[in-house]
Amino acid sequence: MTMSPHPEELAIVTGASSGIGAATARELARLGFHVLAGVRRNQDADAMREPGIEPVMLDITDPNHIQTLADRVYGDPRGRAVRALVNNAGIPVNVPVEVYPLDAWRRLFEVNLFGHVAMTQALLPALVRSKGRVVNISSVGGKVAMATYGPYAGTKFALEAVSDALRREIAPSGVRVIVVEPGGVRTDMLGRASTIARELAATMTPEQGRRYDGLMHAVAAQTASAIEWSQTAEAVAEVIAKAVMARSPRTRYTVGRDAALVTFLARVLPDWLLDRIVATALRPHFPKAGA
Ligand SMILES: NC(=O)c1ccc[n+]([C@@H]2O[C@H](COP(=O)([O-])OP(=O)(O)OC[C@H]3O[C@@H](n4cnc5c(N)ncnc54)[C@H](OP(=O)(O)O)[C@@H]3O)[C@@H](O)[C@H]2O)c1
Repeated sequence: MTMSPHPEELAIVTGASSGIGAATARELARLGFHVLAGVRRNQDADAMREPGIEPVMLDITDPNHIQTLADRVYGDPRGRAVRALVNNAGIPVNVPVEVYPLDAWRRLFEVNLFGHVAMTQALLPALVRSKGRVVNISSVGGKVAMATYGPYAGTKFALEAVSDALRREIAPSGVRVIVVEPGGVRTDMLGRASTIARELAATMTPEQGRRYDGLMHAVAAQTASAIEWSQTAEAVAEVIAKAVMARSPRTRYTVGRDAALVTFLARVLPDWLLDRIVATALRPHFPKAGA
């Protein structure tokens, strides 16, 4: 059962320049919300501007941007309530733990975790007032960390934990906290991930290259082969809209059969068996000897 969207309500979506964030901003606007859509470039603002969507300059690691957005929300000229904060912005990385430079780990956590915490802290008083929702976009990587997903999955596992704590803290105030866990989604993220992986592969020592070249190749090939099974950003946006609108939302929504299967297996299988299954699935994607 869903609630009727109130035309006088705000929804905030971070990372709305592309992919899931852009699709979510459009879906929520279509449903009647006034969407504040976070982007980082003027050209993205121009591309997103349409009835029901107000682009806002928002780098979630920049405290000034967050303050400006908060001022916009608390000083809304029509005093509109905030129905939802969708913490969607994110950056991908597929690199072995050993290879990812420590300052890059820190930058990744700044975006994929601390940025969402900062946004939530800034807007929680408004969400409490309206009994609104925080929708955190995690990933199947928030439940299972495959090889080369250590940095990315680290941020998503942490986001899952923060979401659980926040949900239990804020439930008495009437704010719902919902986690959305997509599997593979066809967005710019895949291209961005492979560019970063290629750049970092080029910095590996010869010893690291011997350890990880084949693995990185296999992960890239496996990801490419899964694209045809992956979800569209619009399909994920529909689930996010459900999390915003459902009268009794679930605490978690997986999106896609891959996400449902992997999160289920991770829950019921011992580590040794899951390790064997994921290694077997990856094996055909390693470069053939002599190739
Ligand atoms: N694609 C998948 O397979 C998949 C699967 C599971 C979960 N997810 C999650 O879904 C979310 C959206 O990903 P997507 O697939 O739609 O990727 P995407 O198309 O690459 O979009 C990522 C968005 O995050 C924004 N962003 C990056 N750094 C930011 C920062 N510091 N401040 C504000 N915005 C920032 C990007 O803005 P710019 O354009 O300005 O860089 C872009 O709008 C992410 O949290 C991702 O982890 C994706």
